[in-house]
Amino acid sequence: MTTRQASPGELLELSGVFWKTCALHTAVKLDVFTAIGDDQLTADQIARSIKGAKRGVERLLNALVAMELLEKIDDRFVNLPSSQTFLSKASPKYIGHIILHHHHLMESWSQLDESVLSGQPIRARSSFGKKAWRESFLMGMFNMAMNMAPLLVPLIDLSDRHHLLDLGGGPGTYAIHFCQNNSQLRATVFDLASTRPFAEKTIEKFQLSDRIDFMAGNYLEDELKGSYDAAWLSHILHGEGPEACQNIINKTASALISGGLIIVHDFILNNTMDGPLFPALFSLNMLLGTSAGQAYSEEQIMSMLSTAGAKDLRRIPTKTPNDSGIIVGVV
Ligand SMILES: C[S@@+](CC[C@H](N)C(=O)[O-])C[C@H]1O[C@@H](n2cnc3c(N)ncnc32)[C@H](O)[C@@H]1O
Repeated sequence: MTTRQASPGELLELSGVFWKTCALHTAVKLDVFTAIGDDQLTADQIARSIKGAKRGVERLLNALVAMELLEKIDDRFVNLPSSQTFLSKASPKYIGHIILHHHHLMESWSQLDESVLSGQPIRARSSFGKKAWRESFLMGMFNMAMNMAPLLVPLIDLSDRHHLLDLGGGPGTYAIHFCQNNSQLRATVFDLASTRPFAEKTIEKFQLSDRIDFMAGNYLEDELKGSYDAAWLSHILHGEGPEACQNIINKTASALISGGLIIVHDFILNNTMDGPLFPALFSLNMLLGTSAGQAYSEEQIMSMLSTAGAKDLRRIPTKTPNDSGIIVGVV
């Protein structure tokens, strides 16, 4: 097999790409894009607005122009349309929460060597960590899911289902989209008690509080009570080791009525575990943040589902920005 060889220039670009990452994170953290809004502002004005030193702020603004996130007209800075849409808090399409979540991961990624050698995590689990970090994690998941749900939800036929369990559903974004797409459906979002305020606020915002409820619990410790006819497990297996995943899937299967659908959505590796790129890198992220979590292959997930008694296992073809995939079975 011939593998394409990287040039020194490409290797250097790969090595230094974190400078761009840090400039973007800083601009989002200091809320530069919101400060500019739909104005044309000088570096002085922006520095005053974000309470920064002109020497630093102007340099950041010029770098953001070079990165094609801002435009410079004479000595004034302007948001480009994509920055205005995705990076200004005034926009409903703001994705700054997930960018701040990435920012919180950086410290641990800079110590990846330690984690690789010890096989142990460097940071606390995002679901259990400090309040501000938990908020950017949960609302970051909301940002991600808001972009993904319109692509994924139409691929899954729930038109004859009545009660969906959204296990580890976070703010309930997928439950919301499944209910919007299926007028007969109601849903229960099961997540840690600390997630309740985010979920209830989000569900209320979409005016679905009469069809979606929140159940507080711990899927590692608690029984999953109920008789659902579909269950959606999105991005929860990668946080746990194989034994805990099997346990979660077994519990889910026993909370489903006969003929119930169990649907796993996650970053799925190919069966040789060496790609696609995002799931392979995401598995390193789980090494840094969990004691046993990892990305799983299609074969591994199907085997867990089959052990729990699920049949008719199939992969639903998807094309998503982060190579996430969906596997469905019937219990
Ligand atoms: C990566 S997020 C996925 C959120 C959502 N399913 C999605 O795909 O956008 C993982 C979710 O699982 C929840 N979670 C983690 N451990 C849990 C546990 N032991 N019991 C219940 N929920 C848990 C977290 O609070 C978080 O909302």
